[in-house]
Formats: sequence, C-alpha cells, structure tokens
Amino acid sequence: MNILILQASPRANGNTVWMAEEYKKAAEAAGHKVTLVNVAKKKIAGCLACEYCHGKGNGACIQQDDMQELYPLMNEAEALVLAAPIYYFTLCAQIQAPVQRMYCVNKPAKVKKMALLVSSYSPGVYDGATAEFRDICNYWSVENMGFVTAKIDEQKTEETKQKVIDLAGKL
Ligand SMILES: Cc1cc2nc3c(=O)[nH]c(=O)nc-3n(C[C@H](O)[C@H](O)[C@H](O)COP(=O)(O)O)c2cc1C
Repeated sequence: MNILILQASPRANGNTVWMAEEYKKAAEAAGHKVTLVNVAKKKIAGCLACEYCHGKGNGACIQQDDMQELYPLMNEAEALVLAAPIYYFTLCAQIQAPVQRMYCVNKPAKVKKMALLVSSYSPGVYDGATAEFRDICNYWSVENMGFVTAKIDEQKTEETKQKVIDLAGKL
C-alpha cells in the first residue's frame, strides 16, 4: 500500500516527528511504500475560497505554493497519516492548511484509510482534534484506523512506540 504521512510539527526533535518516523519504520517493515512529508517546512497557505478550482481551474488550485508538490502525493496515496501537535486545543495550523486545500478536488483520490498521531503537553486536550479527524474520515468516506496521543510524560516512550506500531499494523 502507498502511504503518505504528513508531519506538521516545526520542532525537528519533537515527539510528532518521532511518532511519524516510528510509524514509517513499522509500515515499511510490513512492506508498504511510505512517503513522509514535513509539511511544517512547506509554505502552504489557507484556502482562498475563490472557487477558481470549481470553475475555470477544473480541479486545480490557483495558489502556486508548496501545496502544488503535495497534490500528486495526496492523490496517489492509499492511506493518509496526519501527525500533528495540539496547538490551542486543536490540530496545529500546519496540518489544517494541506487538508483544507484538498477542497479543489474534494478528497484525496485513492485514500481508503487514515490514522492520526498527536502530541500535546497536557492530558485531556484531544477532543477537538479527534472529533475533527473522525468527521474528515466520514466526509471523505475513508476507514478511520484510529489515533495515538502522547502528552508530555508519554513522549518517546516504549509504550507510545508500541501504540504507534500497533496503529501501523492496522494498514
Ligand atoms: C502555539 C502552541 C500552542 C500549544 N497549545 C497547547 C494546548 O492547547 N494544549 C497542550 O496540551 N499543549 C499545547 N502546546 C504544547 C505542544 O502541543 C507540545 O509541546 C507538543 O509536544 C508539541 O509537539 P512536538 O513535540 O512534536 O513539537 C502548544 C504549543 C505551542 C507552541
């Protein structure tokens, strides 16, 4: 299976990068092809709601930013993993932008399954993120494989690593 992981934390040594890499290793070990994109390093603006894509653009977005290199990867992926920290009780802006820019084609063409990896400092801050993730899975009619969360004392631990490996095992 062709897997795309979008990693959205700007912290190179943070927990989200670590979980994304552990997921990649586990999925590759099971024989999947995995592409990990650090979207935090990309320049991806929010959707302009200009509707160019639904008119003259015929599915293409008018904004010429780094999302243009992500569209082919999004549309070839069969499973999509969102890896993001919690900022202000929701998924960070760096993951929201690429997801919302899929508006031009409505949904990634081949994605059948999605998973979520989330880091935070505090416990009990995941309701917004997991509800959004659940609703996107439903909206895109893809299987919700579930999520792994890691608050500060759960980050980079063997227990969390095993949860990430188990989540990758659902592919
Ligand atoms: C702008 C900002 C907002 C944050 N908001 C929250 C929050 O609402 N709840 C929380 O528990 N942690 C919050 N955090 C902490 C991060 O979620 C936490 O440090 C997480 O481990 C970051 O992931 P990373 O290690 O992959 O970068 C915030 C951090 C930043 C920079």
